[in-house]
Amino acid sequence: MFIRKEAPGDADAIRSLTEAAFAPVPYSNGSEGRIIDQLRTDGDLAISLVMDDDGTVVGHIAFSPIKIEGGEDKWYCLGPISVAPGKQRQGIGKALIGEGLRRLRALGANGCTLVGDPAYYGRLGFRSDGRLRYKSLNPSLIQRMVFQGVPPKGNLTHADAFEHALEDS
Ligand SMILES: CC(C)(COP(=O)(O)OP(=O)(O)OC[C@H]1O[C@@H](n2cnc3c(N)ncnc32)[C@H](O)[C@@H]1OP(=O)(O)O)[C@@H](O)C(=O)NCCC(=O)NCCS
Repeated sequence: MFIRKEAPGDADAIRSLTEAAFAPVPYSNGSEGRIIDQLRTDGDLAISLVMDDDGTVVGHIAFSPIKIEGGEDKWYCLGPISVAPGKQRQGIGKALIGEGLRRLRALGANGCTLVGDPAYYGRLGFRSDGRLRYKSLNPSLIQRMVFQGVPPKGNLTHADAFEHALEDS
């Protein structure tokens, strides 16, 4: 098993994997697979990595640019991230996050935000101080990892693919 950048032929496998992984997630509206396609179409898929298990895509992670009110630039958003249902809890998600963050730093990013479960992402070094906001979501779900500079605050605007998916849901 190894991590590589997505290749042109991976789009269908990534969408299927994402839909399967999110199917049992209670807060999912089933849009995550389409969001990845739209990010790609819009040129907003800054980083897209897959876990390749002998030719099968068993994990995927996406990073896209994010705007923070107040102007901090070079920030990115982690997600969606998916691991095939039969392959979860074996360290694949953690490995994809670690490699994705390493590549994000190499791009010169100032940091990374995400919307997710603090119990999971807190263990990987993400924190919330309640000062980042996204729509009406509980600020504790909005987490970030600062690579350089000061911790940002204010409202987030995700890439269009996320914003439109929310409008459609
Ligand atoms: C979330 C997800 C990507 C995690 O990937 P994974 O490969 O199963 O996770 P890992 O095996 O790398 O887990 C890393 C650690 O977090 C723990 N963990 C995994 N899922 C967890 C969860 N939902 N809550 C709390 N801890 C969790 C693991 O026990 C592991 O801890 P350890 O290193 O001490 O053993 C995967 O479960 C998934 O695809 N879920 C469905 C889609 C989804 O919810 N995506 C994220 C939306 S924010």
